[in-house]
Amino acid sequence: MCGIVGYVGTSQAAPILLEGLSKLEYRGYDSAGLAVRDHEKDPVLVKAKGRLKVLSEKTDGGRSIPGFCGIGHTRWATHGEPSETNAHPHASDDFSVIGVHNGIIENYQELRDKLIRHGYTFYSQTDTEVAVKLVDYYYKKYKVGPIDALAKTMVRVRGSYALAVMFRDYPDEIYVARKDSPLIIGTAGDNQYVASDVPAILKYTRDVYYIDNLEMARLSGEGVTFFNLDGDVVDKPLSRIEWDASVAEKGGFEHFMMKEIHEQPEAVRNTIGSVVREEKNEKGETDYQIDLSQTGMEEDEIRELSQICVVACGSAYHVGVAAQYVTEDLTDLPVRVELASEFRYRRVMADPKELVIVISQSGETADSLAALRKAKDMGMPTLAIVNVVGSSIAREADHVFYTLAGPEIAVATTKAYSAQLIAVYLLAIWFGLVRGTVAHADANNMLAEMELLPDKIRRVLEDQERIQWFASKYSNAKDVFFIGRGLDYAICLEGSLKMKEISYIHSEAYAAGELKHGTISLIEKGTLVVCVATQDDLYEKTVSNMVEVGSRGGFLMGLTKYGKYAMEDIAEFVVYIPRTDPHFTASLAVIPLQLMGYYLSCAKGLDVDKPRNLAKSVTVE
Ligand code: AGP
Repeated sequence: MCGIVGYVGTSQAAPILLEGLSKLEYRGYDSAGLAVRDHEKDPVLVKAKGRLKVLSEKTDGGRSIPGFCGIGHTRWATHGEPSETNAHPHASDDFSVIGVHNGIIENYQELRDKLIRHGYTFYSQTDTEVAVKLVDYYYKKYKVGPIDALAKTMVRVRGSYALAVMFRDYPDEIYVARKDSPLIIGTAGDNQYVASDVPAILKYTRDVYYIDNLEMARLSGEGVTFFNLDGDVVDKPLSRIEWDASVAEKGGFEHFMMKEIHEQPEAVRNTIGSVVREEKNEKGETDYQIDLSQTGMEEDEIRELSQICVVACGSAYHVGVAAQYVTEDLTDLPVRVELASEFRYRRVMADPKELVIVISQSGETADSLAALRKAKDMGMPTLAIVNVVGSSIAREADHVFYTLAGPEIAVATTKAYSAQLIAVYLLAIWFGLVRGTVAHADANNMLAEMELLPDKIRRVLEDQERIQWFASKYSNAKDVFFIGRGLDYAICLEGSLKMKEISYIHSEAYAAGELKHGTISLIEKGTLVVCVATQDDLYEKTVSNMVEVGSRGGFLMGLTKYGKYAMEDIAEFVVYIPRTDPHFTASLAVIPLQLMGYYLSCAKGLDVDKPRNLAKSVTVE
C-alpha cells in the first residue's frame, strides 16, 4: 500500500519527509513525490518514478526545496501504471490544493466525470487526483475552509482513504482526513508529523494521536486540532508508542505474515470494492452490479468462450483449483487447471476460444510468464489476475484483473491468495450472468454474501489462540495429511503448502476419496490428519473418510461450519467457520490453516517471513 508522510514545524521539511518515506519503503512502492512550502511562497512539487533514491537525487537530499511545511508519498500503484505522472502529490491546476492519498476511492470514475463536467482537467490515471480535485471543487464552490471542504469530500467519496492535504491559502498548515486506511499523527512541541505508519515518525517523537474514521485534523506550529465530520472540534488523548522500529513496520505484529493474515479482511474488501457497485432499485433494495470493464473483456468474447484453462504456480495454482469448482458450478464452461511449469512444456491443443487465465501475485513468476507467452503465441485469449500493477504478466496479458491486496512482504502468501479467490468468484459470477447460467437474483444474493466475507474472516481470526494452542502440540510432527472433497480439497492444497513452506513439516493434501487407493497405508497411530468438510453435499462422505482414518490411529482435526458440532464425536479438535455461500468457503476455511502453519513455524523458532530456500517471486525456472 502507499506511504504518506507530512511535517510542519521549525525545521526544513524536505529532509524529514525523505527520511520518513525511507522508513516506509518496506511497504513496497514504484514511485514517490514531495510537495514543500516555504511559508507564503508557492509550493514546490517534485515527483520521481522508481526508488526513493531518485527523488532524493532530484532534490539534492531535500536541500533544493526549502520550506517548513510539506507532504510526501510513496506510491503502490492500484489505479494507473507506475509513472511520474501518476505519482503523488496531485494538485489542482492553480495549486490551491495539493494532496497525497493512501487507499481506494471506489467511486472515483463517477466523481472524475462530474469534475470534468465542471471544467476540471485530469492528467493522471489515479483515483487520488480525483480526490484532491474534489476537495478543490468544494473548497471553491462553497467558499468554505479546508475542514469543511474535506468534510464535504468525505461524505461524497466511497472507499478507503488517508489524505494529507495542503491549501495555498493556509501556509504552514497540513490537513488530514481518514477512513479505513491507517494514519498516525506525532507531535513534539512546535513540530507536528503525520504518517501512514509509526516507523516514519519514531525518529522524531513517540508521542502520538490516533485519528479515527471519518475524522479530520489540522497540523500547524501551534499543535494538532481534530474535527469530526460536522466540523466540531474533537478532543484526543495523547498516546505513547513503546514499539521499536522493526516491530512498528509490522504494525505491532511479530512477523509480516501475521500482519498480512490480519490484513485479509481489508484486501478482500478492497478487491470486492474495486468491481462491485451497490445501487438501490425502485423498491429501495440493494442491487449489486459487477463492473469488470477494467479487464477490457467484452461480453461477446465471454459468450463465445468454449472452455477455460487456469495456469499458475504454488498458492496461485491452488486458487485455480478452487476456481475450477466454482466456475464449473456457476457456468457451462469446462475448466482445467494446469501447473505453469508443466503447461509451458506440454503439447497443448490450441483453441482460440479457450480463455487462459494466469494467476500470479507478483506478476513475475517465470513459469507463469512463459505459460502466458505460450498461450498468446497459440492465439488463445489471456486474462491475468495479478497483484502488482505494471508487472510483466500484467503488461503482456490481453486482459488484467488487479487484486488490491497491497504489497505482500512475507514469502508465504496469505492476503494475495485471499484476494485472488475473490477475483475468481467475481469472474465466475460475471461469466455466469453473461452466459445466462446465473440469474441476476442469484448473483445479487452471492454478491450480498460476498460483502460479508471481511467480517466473517475477522470472526475466524478471533479463534487464533485456540489454533495456536493446538498447533504448538504438533511442532514435532513428521507427517501431516490434509483431506477434503471438492472445494475442500482445494483448501487442503493451500493448507498443506502453508505448513510445508514455513514449518518445514512434510505434509500432503489428498482428495479424501482417494486415500483408500494407497496413501492410507501411511496413517499410523498419532498421525495428524486435518479434515476439511465445509461442503454440505459432500459432508457425510468426508466424515466417513475421517472415520476410516481415525480407525487406523490417525489424530483428527476437523474444520467445518458452525452447527456441525457432531464432528466433535469423531475429531479430537474441531475448528468452526461461519456459514457462507458454499462457493466462498475457501475464503474462511483457509484462515485457520494459515494460522496453523504460522504457529508451527513460530513454535519451531523458524524464520516465518523468509523461509529457507524460498523466494517471494520465483523469477527463474
Ligand atoms: C505461496 O505461499 C508461495 N509463496 C508460492 O507458492 C507462490 O504462491 C508461487 O511461487 C506463485 O507466486 P506468484 O503468485 O507470484 O506467481
